[in-house]
Amino acid sequence: MAAMGTWSFSQPAVEKMRSMILDGQNATDVVERAAADVENDVETGRHIVGRGGFPNSRGIVECDAAIMEGVPGRFGAVAALRGVGQPCRVARRVMDRSPHSLLVGEGAEAFAQEQGFTIETNDSMLSSHTLTAYQEFLENGQHASGHDTIGLIALDLSGNITVGVSTSGAPFKAPGRVGDSPLPGSGLYADHTVGAAAGDGDKIMCYCPSFHVVQLMRQGSSPQEACTSVLTDIRKRIGKEKCFQIGLIALNMKGEVGAASSVEFPYTFWNQGMDSVEKRVISY
Ligand code: GLY
Repeated sequence: MAAMGTWSFSQPAVEKMRSMILDGQNATDVVERAAADVENDVETGRHIVGRGGFPNSRGIVECDAAIMEGVPGRFGAVAALRGVGQPCRVARRVMDRSPHSLLVGEGAEAFAQEQGFTIETNDSMLSSHTLTAYQEFLENGQHASGHDTIGLIALDLSGNITVGVSTSGAPFKAPGRVGDSPLPGSGLYADHTVGAAAGDGDKIMCYCPSFHVVQLMRQGSSPQEACTSVLTDIRKRIGKEKCFQIGLIALNMKGEVGAASSVEFPYTFWNQGMDSVEKRVISY
């Protein structure tokens, strides 16, 4: 049993995951519900997740989210989805109920509506914080700094592992821009024989680091060795000075964790040997 999340603001989500896992709940329900709380909280929108997230350059909030189980073929994602405060829930429905794996834009919105989700106005997706930032962007072309994005991994009592990722994406991005988060192998990857990983950082999609981490764990690396090795490999290929923002977390089937990052990167985790959720920070 274990749970893990990216960035400090994942702590309440990982605490919820811990209690759901101890309660015997399934890893996918655990990830979906913990992600949904964060996504729907307007306050955590400033961390670039769900409701209250930063809008695109036309003032519209467009979210990307994905969920992947360790069981082969179990993946669902949405991208550039408007008007839904809990996009990871829609990603789960894609995994469970759609013949497809990734739905985008209007198609994702239509699917969400068919599945009973209310499509909300854009105003209800914005917060006063992100509206002010958007006004500044319109007036000065000033881009809010920020990265974040939530990545959560749960390993349940029965040994099921699931990873989920959710983001409103880069602040003031081009309409239709899709980041790394909903892309399997980049934003997330899971294999029930090995473990799971989640990544954050737009440019990571060129390197499939979540897949790479899981592959290294398959070959015998610990989660920490795998994360460090993938980051080192990317840095070698592009040069340390040019390295973009990348954060990686990984959890194996023994409940061991690892993380690596090119920036200061807090993450939170718990496993069966611990009394409570802990935070660790990767210092760059
Ligand atoms: N890592 C989230 C994004 O760039 O959209």
